Amino acid sequence: MRARGNALVLVGFMGAGKSSAGRAIAQKLRLPRFDTDEIVAAKFGLTIAQIFEQLGEARFRDAESEALRELSGDSEAVIVTGGGIVLRQENVRELRRIGAIVNLYARDEVIFERVSRRPSRPLLQTSNPRATIAELLSARAPLYRAAADVHIDTSDLTQQQIANAIIRDWEAAAIRR
Ligand code: S3P
Repeated sequence: MRARGNALVLVGFMGAGKSSAGRAIAQKLRLPRFDTDEIVAAKFGLTIAQIFEQLGEARFRDAESEALRELSGDSEAVIVTGGGIVLRQENVRELRRIGAIVNLYARDEVIFERVSRRPSRPLLQTSNPRATIAELLSARAPLYRAAADVHIDTSDLTQQQIANAIIRDWEAAAIRR
């Protein structure tokens, strides 16, 4: 097996708390932060919603995989990924190369409540977003579970508590090489 990198990688469904936890951890530990959605958006000069609408999901997924291939695990960093990153096994291999993988998850109703606050996610622009979430979650939950080294239920945690829980595990070296 290839060596694991030194980064802390956050995976999980939309609304699981990856972006806010990633920001808080990077700030607290003074680490650089890379967010695959931000990298892809910057590459095209478009928002994620515009990329899906104008270029299609396949172009987004290809750019997402390309962003991962360019990330190094040489030094400590926080890597935030989009919720669909685990859909490609090649992405999971790249994430393992980059570092330790933390899966953030939450109950369906908590996810629904959180994503409803920001109506910008293209995959949830359906007539029944609650059903879409349930469908996507049941397909993806096993993928997040299989990919990650550590799993944290964020349903009843504040953003700071989520960040602290991740840092605690990371600093305890429980999830490091
Ligand atoms: C996606 C999740 C989004 C973004 C894109 C696709 C997904 O990221 O990458 O809309 O397939 O679950 P967040 O998980 O940060 O919302």
